[in-house]
Amino acid sequence: MNFITFSLPLPPKLKIINKMRTNIVAGNWKMNTTVKEGVKLVSEIVEKSKKISTVKLIVAPPFTHIFSISEKIKGTEIALSSQNCASEAKGAYTGEVSAEMLADMDVKYAIIGHSERREYYKESSEILLKKVKLALANGISPIFCVGENLNEREENRHFDIVKKQIEEVVFNVDENDFEKIIIAYEPVWAIGTGKTATAEQAQEIHAYIREVLSGEFGKKAEITSILYGGSCKPSNAKEIFSKPDVDGGLIGGASLNADDFIAIAKSF
Ligand code: PGA
Repeated sequence: MNFITFSLPLPPKLKIINKMRTNIVAGNWKMNTTVKEGVKLVSEIVEKSKKISTVKLIVAPPFTHIFSISEKIKGTEIALSSQNCASEAKGAYTGEVSAEMLADMDVKYAIIGHSERREYYKESSEILLKKVKLALANGISPIFCVGENLNEREENRHFDIVKKQIEEVVFNVDENDFEKIIIAYEPVWAIGTGKTATAEQAQEIHAYIREVLSGEFGKKAEITSILYGGSCKPSNAKEIFSKPDVDGGLIGGASLNADDFIAIAKSF
């Protein structure tokens, strides 16, 4: 018997699913720039991002910059994120900034559980869950970070590690709140090291993360944006973002340069 073979350009289902997800490029400035430098940086980003419509741009400056930056991005498509928020709602917690205060400053996203917070400030899943819940209660979408360190990768434990990080926090939010959560997969060994996960490694674990999420939240996991982070730059973004389960990036070093940040955003 003779078979006629057809070659389809793309499975239609994949196309639809991809459309349902928001592509995001978020810049995590960490503890860099003065307010003046930050305002200059964001002004350049505003200027250069005018024609970008396929990706949501987010900037996460230090707390001290938030007021000035929010003034600069008013009326633009760029959104503001914090790099952290307090694990308590209010009161005698010297040095902390609450989710309510951030929401009041037009902050729409909060990076929670970055590996630097987990490692240097000993933030446990218990603390991170409190932060995630407070962010959500104040209308802020958490960008919840997960990722393994080098040892864990070498011992092939990366799947178990990210699963545990997700189970301990994300599985404990309400089903309706889950829709507001963004996941950032950031292998610790790739952060600030110049070493990037290959596009295949990123896709493998992003698909796994989505599978873990769908085990708890079913179809809703199809619309969760899962970002890659770790030495993402203009030269590697296109390949990484081309993978079906990579919905953008959380960018550290390269987000401090407007041209690089915009080049990454244009990699979709
Ligand atoms: P990097 O940082 O891009 O400088 O590696 C990413 C991050 O820590 O979010």
